[in-house]
Amino acid sequence: MKTIHTVKELQVIIKQHKKEKKTIGFVPTMGALHSGHISLMKRSIKENDFTVCSIFVNPTQFNVKSDLDKYPRTLDADSEKLAKAKVDYLFAPSVKEVYPSGTKKSVKVNLKGLDKLMEGEFRPGHFEGVVQVVHRLLDIVRPTRLYMGQKDFQQFTIIAQMIKNLRMKVQLVVVEIQRAKDGLALSSRNVRLTKAKRKWAPIIFKELKKIKRSMKSKTVDEAIESALDALGKPRGYEPEYVSIVDGYTLKPIKKWSDSDYIVAATAVWAGKIRLIDNIILKKS
Ligand code: PAJ
Repeated sequence: MKTIHTVKELQVIIKQHKKEKKTIGFVPTMGALHSGHISLMKRSIKENDFTVCSIFVNPTQFNVKSDLDKYPRTLDADSEKLAKAKVDYLFAPSVKEVYPSGTKKSVKVNLKGLDKLMEGEFRPGHFEGVVQVVHRLLDIVRPTRLYMGQKDFQQFTIIAQMIKNLRMKVQLVVVEIQRAKDGLALSSRNVRLTKAKRKWAPIIFKELKKIKRSMKSKTVDEAIESALDALGKPRGYEPEYVSIVDGYTLKPIKKWSDSDYIVAATAVWAGKIRLIDNIILKKS
């Protein structure tokens, strides 16, 4: 695997591969890699002639400065994992490389309110930062396919909207959520959970599955109430939201028959750690 730190160097390589009509898979990350990330790399490697992974802790998507400072930076360990997975190029640029004229947000995309619901309510400006960085990275890498995780449901939905809105020539591939054996969705934050909080964490996926099972016996509101109630029970646990939404618009549904694509998503505070997860309830 070759590690590249500058836009210029990466673009020379990409240009050469494009000349040879090679397909390029691109997996953007912020590092602190786990097997969830690696599943995206594997999928990209399988489907493309070569794969670029970026590791860039994007300052513009953090609405709390201390979160940015605390974000784990583990480039050496990440690099080993990527090499083992047989990723071709690791792009690890500096902030100056990604934003040569400053971090002011300049991409204008009509997100149709997708960024204001769910996560957007609690993380103002976050998705604008995600759009800004993914747009910039796509402009640098110009991949054939872009790989993102279902784990961040709202994130990939917004990026799909950006691609459509700006008519960008890239195919978005969404990879299913990778979980620990007990059901907890893999996340870089899981290692920061205390032992007691980690023990209770499988309750999140359990409650999402319970919503799916109760679609015949409960109303949408009852299902939400019951999940909120259960997720607040373990000591130090506090659900921020449980939303049942249309998978395309992310707008809350009122009845199970309101949409043919329904997703349940949640964010839960486990002590000081915020965990998110989701489940597709229906897609036809
Ligand atoms: P990061 O949190 O590092 O995640 C990188 C990619 O890995 C995202 O597409 C995310 O959905 C996916 N991912 C994380 N956990 C996963 C899991 N358990 N199973 C499957 N996929 C998983 O998301 C970001 O970085 C940033 O916002 C980014 C898109 C890189 C822009 O800065």
